Amino acid sequence: MLVVDLGGQYSQLIARRVREARVYSELVSHRVSVEEIRRRNPVAILLSGGPASVYAEGAPRMDPAIFAQGIPTLGICYGAQLLALELGGRVEKTGAGEYGKVSMRTSGEGLFSSQPVDQTAWMSHRDTVVAPPQGARVVAESEHTPVAAFEDDARKLYGVQFHPEVVHTPHGQDVLKNFLYEIAGAAPVWTPAAVIEEQVERIRAQVGNARVLCALSGGVDSAVAALLVHKAVGDQLTCVFVDHGLLRKGEAEQVVEMFDGVFHVPLVHVQAQERFLAKLGGVTDPETKRKIIGEEFIRVFEDEARKLGAANGGREPVRWLVQGTLYSDVIESGGTDGVAETIKSHHNVGGLPADMEMKLVEPLRLLFKDEVRRVGEELGMPERMVWRQPFPGPGLAIRIIGDVTEERLETLREADAILQEEVRKAGLYRELWQSFCVLPAIRSVGVQGDSRTYGYPIAIRAVTSEDAMTADWARLPYDLIEVIASRIVNEIPAVNRVVLDVTSKPPATIEWE
Ligand code: XMP
Repeated sequence: MLVVDLGGQYSQLIARRVREARVYSELVSHRVSVEEIRRRNPVAILLSGGPASVYAEGAPRMDPAIFAQGIPTLGICYGAQLLALELGGRVEKTGAGEYGKVSMRTSGEGLFSSQPVDQTAWMSHRDTVVAPPQGARVVAESEHTPVAAFEDDARKLYGVQFHPEVVHTPHGQDVLKNFLYEIAGAAPVWTPAAVIEEQVERIRAQVGNARVLCALSGGVDSAVAALLVHKAVGDQLTCVFVDHGLLRKGEAEQVVEMFDGVFHVPLVHVQAQERFLAKLGGVTDPETKRKIIGEEFIRVFEDEARKLGAANGGREPVRWLVQGTLYSDVIESGGTDGVAETIKSHHNVGGLPADMEMKLVEPLRLLFKDEVRRVGEELGMPERMVWRQPFPGPGLAIRIIGDVTEERLETLREADAILQEEVRKAGLYRELWQSFCVLPAIRSVGVQGDSRTYGYPIAIRAVTSEDAMTADWARLPYDLIEVIASRIVNEIPAVNRVVLDVTSKPPATIEWE
């Protein structure tokens, strides 16, 4: 099914909700032509909300011919207003907009079948539909919105003024499911197993007998991408894991154990810790650290790629490179509408070289992050890897303020391991967007046993977030903080103080560097 993006902040969320109902969905721009719609032959169309008034200059419009194709179409908020406007209804500024939760009375049929007649819905609009499209029936109303929903079964056109995609509309997902299954006749067949089957076939068709290379970062995306490719073409795939020595305690071992030991994927484990540390020596500026790590990563990877080509006598160079590009990357690198019209190549692993003359295999290109995780689970990846919190490419180097040395890395790694262990034990790991330790570039006085110490502090940073654009500091239980703090100062001789970061983003960022 196609989600037409009319500029609303929830377009991606709508596409995800449809997929949660196990119907495959993609976003398209509102400039999509009727020919393109016919070519793609969707089972249904959803029109997103939008920030504009339908009467505003430059407000997004669509080719009305699209609504005459007999394809079941559901407009949400702005999308519903657009349908009304184009098809003989009326949209007005009634003066009183509606924002937040409202009570709504529904028909209990059609979109609202098997739901309570009286329900709560989440609204966010100023303009409102005052007369539905000609021939459509009003099937829901609220105090300020005379047409909270309309249905035209003959033309298969539907509209809702509220937002069924947000969690504040308790029956929203049921409304979407009624539209998808009952009205559009879509089947719930988009499952992780189906994704795997489809991708495996695609990958086989794409790469044939050629050799494929994949850079592993330790994160979930590159790992799932690699496993999919391995399932498709077996030992034609070689994975290169550049171990820059900036991962957390035990993470490099986990990657090697999983790929080599469990899945038997050919793996080159490049021990480049010393190379990275040497380059980082004396560097304190965060952006310089990032740049050095990114460049060094490329260099190490290129060396390995060259060796692998050479190992083959130069006759059959590695032609394909796996990248864990996600659907959200594809959308975000798209046109001005926020929808991919032109697709730039997106570099996931620290920015891989442009002149490597390898073509890209991107098996996650159609997936959202939560779907990548479900595919990972289906492929049998360990829970620890599938649900890993996001971890920055430059790793611990940007969590050590100032100079990155082996000794300071060791201190931070140990402290961080204690934090992770306790957070997991408390059952909070998945609830937190990120939780980690930071090693500031100061020392302070302490007293341990009978002697004064002059040691490092460790800062605890734990945040909740949806997308890392904004974040709130996590209210960890005091008892948990106490256990973490006392374990850190007791078990790590170099540390004599633990502090807690209680700033949200903004004004602070999540990372300290
Ligand atoms: P900030 O610190 O900007 O971080 O609030 C937002 C999110 O981005 C991650 N982050 C990075 N990820 N390379 C990455 O791959 C980086 O250089 C980098 N810097 C920050 C951070 O962990 C958080 O999830």
